Amino acid sequence: MNSHLPVSAVITSAEALTKNTTLFTLLTDRNSAVAAAFLPGQFLQLSLPGVGEIPISYCGYLSADGSIELCISHVGRVSTALKSAVPGASAGVRGPFGNGFPLSMYTGKDLLLIAGGLGMAPLRSLLLALRAERHRYGRVTLLYGAREAGALLFLDELREMKKCGAIELRLAVDRIESDSEPLPDCRIALLPALMDQLEVDPARTCAAICGPPVVYPYLVAGAHTLGVADERIHLSLERRMKCGIGRCGHCAVGGYLCCVDGPVFSYAELAGIEGALG
Ligand SMILES: Cc1cc2nc3c(=O)[nH]c(=O)nc-3n(C[C@H](O)[C@H](O)[C@H](O)COP(=O)(O)OP(=O)(O)OC[C@H]3O[C@@H](n4cnc5c(N)ncnc54)[C@H](O)[C@@H]3O)c2cc1C
Ligand code: FES
Repeated sequence: MNSHLPVSAVITSAEALTKNTTLFTLLTDRNSAVAAAFLPGQFLQLSLPGVGEIPISYCGYLSADGSIELCISHVGRVSTALKSAVPGASAGVRGPFGNGFPLSMYTGKDLLLIAGGLGMAPLRSLLLALRAERHRYGRVTLLYGAREAGALLFLDELREMKKCGAIELRLAVDRIESDSEPLPDCRIALLPALMDQLEVDPARTCAAICGPPVVYPYLVAGAHTLGVADERIHLSLERRMKCGIGRCGHCAVGGYLCCVDGPVFSYAELAGIEGALG
């Protein structure tokens, strides 16, 4: 099992989640490195023949049949080419790469997950991993914010998890579109505001954060206000990557390379590194 060599995968479903975001399910050999074992927060390299290759976070969790879920926003050359990919199309996948969220540290702890925008993709993988062994973890709270209601991903699934008591859920949108349905369980506020009046037991809470880097300083400040220690605040840094395997230095943050040392870092590792959070 060599994670550096692409294996072929077939797209088995492509579900439009928003106007510009698609949840793809790909089927590959269930024994291949890319499908057999990964942690939420790790990523794979997805390639389209003749177009290119991009890093994408795992959005689902381990499957018995070699299925991999990827939530892709169509922003540029490769990701836009994927917009027209239909079930039956093939792609290359290799990985897993990076470190992922420290699930073993999370055992027995309360989890505070904070997702902004597309940051929900890797945090969905984490939520599914927690749900798969729910008895191993304490209270799980998800704070999730997006630009507008139509950009909130996996809403039905998240509400279902809330309904069955697996998670506590707080939602926010920056603004309400004129044509959108009212969302009774959603505030009009910026993501950090969801941390107001939140009560956690800081001694047993770990925070897992993924979203636009611009909000990270506010979210870290909010976690500090709640009393969560730097070692237990984990942030995913998705820097621009080229090689993805620690060779080119493109993704350097201080003395770290995001693609191999990250993308998940504790705030204890990042504090004091200029530009690490922005
Ligand atoms: C570890 C990691 C995990 C990622 N996970 C996901 C994921 O789960 N889903 C997803 O949709 N995307 C994810 N991305 C971002 C994704 O890799 C980029 O959107 C993709 O590389 C863009 O390639 P492109 O050829 O489509 O765009 P390009 O043609 O290369 O660029 C088009 C535009 O997108 C911008 N852009 C390109 N890459 C990035 C980036 N990494 N961040 C911000 N802007 C960018 C460019 O500045 C340009 O404006 C992840 C990136 C990393 C590093
Ligand atoms: S992307 Fe090349 S070193 Fe990280």
